Amino acid sequence: MAAKYLAHFGLKSSPFTKEISDDELWLPPSKQEVLADLVEALRERTSVLLTGEPGVGKTCVLRALRRKLPQGTFRLTYCHNATLGRRDFYRQLCLALGLSPSATAAALFFGVSSHVEDLGRERIHPVFLLDEAQLLHQDTLDHLHILLNYEWDSKALLSLVLVGLPELADRMTLRRNRCLYSRIQYRLTIDPIVPDDTADYIAYRLTGSGCKREVFTSDAIAMIHETALGSLRDIDRVATAALRASARRKRKLVERDVVDHVINILGV
Ligand SMILES: Nc1ncnc2c1ncn2[C@@H]1O[C@H](COP(=O)(O)OP(=O)(O)OP(=O)(O)O)[C@@H](O)[C@H]1O
Ligand SMILES: [Mg+2]
Repeated sequence: MAAKYLAHFGLKSSPFTKEISDDELWLPPSKQEVLADLVEALRERTSVLLTGEPGVGKTCVLRALRRKLPQGTFRLTYCHNATLGRRDFYRQLCLALGLSPSATAAALFFGVSSHVEDLGRERIHPVFLLDEAQLLHQDTLDHLHILLNYEWDSKALLSLVLVGLPELADRMTLRRNRCLYSRIQYRLTIDPIVPDDTADYIAYRLTGSGCKREVFTSDAIAMIHETALGSLRDIDRVATAALRASARRKRKLVERDVVDHVINILGV
């Protein structure tokens, strides 16, 4: 059953849900820029490190990338369970690639790298997207640069896109990770959004749910921005709670006092 606040504000669906399709993602100039860098990196067949605070929209940018890259030329494989040791990591990669996984770590590695070489012969560029990569086991991380080595390290047959929290960037600079880090040519960050972006994001998501009128006052938006610290996920949570609380009070606008109230309750 649809939530009551939707009818109150004339919304046809929940505006701040994570269930947004790839072609409807919000892409302000700051995100377009990251996306363009990612596309360029992959066209150059290089590897990328992409970091940002929780909820700033890293995984959504990967989804926008999936939509933007021509399917016949690139083969994207998304891995989000980074908490695996080396053998299980390659096992997961084999499964994601549609290969039957072998028993030993060496055979698994051979399976993945042979598949990458096969794709190279077909002129398809494989891209492994490793999300939540700050959680990668050190023994997996130690081995990743070997996966980038084809024909005596003279062929760029695979791109790795390591995505994670800012501590991933710190980790990469450790001496132990220098073989991998030196092979990652693009080091990108997604910064927390600025106040104008927050207003634009809220309006964009409301429009996507069929509401074009102003719903949040500028004071209310400013307060949401200060609380969310640039995290879109936090904006989603506070904005939804504020819509619900305002509907209960039969208000046609979401105002600062209600936002203040829900922030105290949510303990954001
Ligand atoms: N470009 C976008 N368009 C629309 N909504 C977005 C966009 N980016 C982020 N969001 C919203 O913010 C939420 C969090 O985004 P996302 O999951 O991409 O963040 P993240 O940086 O990957 O976070 P984490 O580090 O916790 O994995 C999404 O579920 C979505 O509701
Ligand atoms: Mg994510």
